[in-house]
Amino acid sequence: MASLTNKRILLGITGGIAAYKSADLARRLRDAGAEVRVVMTQAATGFITPLTMQAVSGHPVQQTLLDETTENGMDHIELARWADLVLVAPASANFLAKLNQGRADDLLSTVCLATDAPLAVAPAMNQQMWLNPATQRNVFGLKQLGIKLFGPGSGDQACGETGPGRMLEPEELVDLVAGQFVTGTLQGITVMVTAGPTWEAMDPVRGFTNRSSGKMGYAVAQAAVEAGARVILVSGPTALKAPERVEPVNVTSAREMHDAVMERVAAVDIFIGVAAVADYRPKAVAEQKIKKGPDTLMIELERNPDILANVAAITDGPFTVGFAAETENLLEHARDKLQKKHVDMIAANRVDQTELGFDADQNALTLISTSGQIELEPQPKTRLARELIKHIATGFHAKNTTEDSRQTYR
Ligand code: PMT
Repeated sequence: MASLTNKRILLGITGGIAAYKSADLARRLRDAGAEVRVVMTQAATGFITPLTMQAVSGHPVQQTLLDETTENGMDHIELARWADLVLVAPASANFLAKLNQGRADDLLSTVCLATDAPLAVAPAMNQQMWLNPATQRNVFGLKQLGIKLFGPGSGDQACGETGPGRMLEPEELVDLVAGQFVTGTLQGITVMVTAGPTWEAMDPVRGFTNRSSGKMGYAVAQAAVEAGARVILVSGPTALKAPERVEPVNVTSAREMHDAVMERVAAVDIFIGVAAVADYRPKAVAEQKIKKGPDTLMIELERNPDILANVAAITDGPFTVGFAAETENLLEHARDKLQKKHVDMIAANRVDQTELGFDADQNALTLISTSGQIELEPQPKTRLARELIKHIATGFHAKNTTEDSRQTYR
């Protein structure tokens, strides 16, 4: 059976006779390990009751955009953020048209617009409606938008006609949903991610830090959870809430981060150093607040341990991935770090543009390993992290396969 352990699937149901299959679909998604929440359009409730969907999904069904019972009327945003994948099944001809136009006049279409999770639709309609050029134009538009089309199938229809337009069977849809996550699967793998800045105190109230917000590292941790991994997130001080299902370890300084990593690394298969760790710390930390004095003040700094290099140096240690934030000669510096720190991969991060890198919501990376380099285009950090995890998983599995076959050969 397809595995959807840890996955959160938002199931949207629109008005069509195939909606009767959505109960079976929700049950099968849960059997595969997913958590399922359901959003129904008004028309869908004419074909299957919200109570039925509540019973099979285990959660109350959401139906309206402006629900007074939800805090700040923000429910659509919460739902959109919650989902690892949104599946609309059945998706009517009308819904495909709305989605293609980017309309947001009910809860389901609004969630579809507000989510950055992958979005899939399982069309279900009369064969003439499916073949109509207007529908086909919408289908073309949806594909251009990166929305996945699951089906439709072909055969006898509820209206008595035969042809394309049947919703795929629930078991086929579950396999297709699972297929969205399997590339780079990390099922059963333990991943450790470092994130955020470190804080190097010089006195009780002041210290050295940097502009890392933690967004990139937290997104990487979230993406690894979505890929099925157990995730330990060792984070410096940030304003972010740790993603659900990660094991958070909060630290302040580089030395604390180093110790927290080293204590736990024996159980780790993949280590990803996203944190912007301070290379130096004040040699002495004043016990009291340093008072204003002469015009200049010398503070002596000493080197912090290099966490990434130390993890990479462990014999039979984890697959290691570093980040390299650079303002100039990006690839050259990144390659240098790949070699000097002996890591398996390095994600070169240009940070000379305000809309990318430190504290931004978007980022772009060049992923470098000994086998070549891959460009990950500018996009929201959440999406970029999923792409990154896919490549890391591929690299990790490739390395393990090679090492296993070497051992067999010996
Ligand atoms: O947190 P955000 O606002 O989302 O920003 C994300 C980011 C820009 C911080 C992130 O994408 C990034 O590029 N992180 C690496 C930052 C950096 O400056 O790296 P570095 O060149 O100093 O270090 C190279 C690698 O060694 C990194 O993986 C770092 O975690 C690691 N390192 C560095 C020094 C040290 N003492 N120990 C380490 O483990």
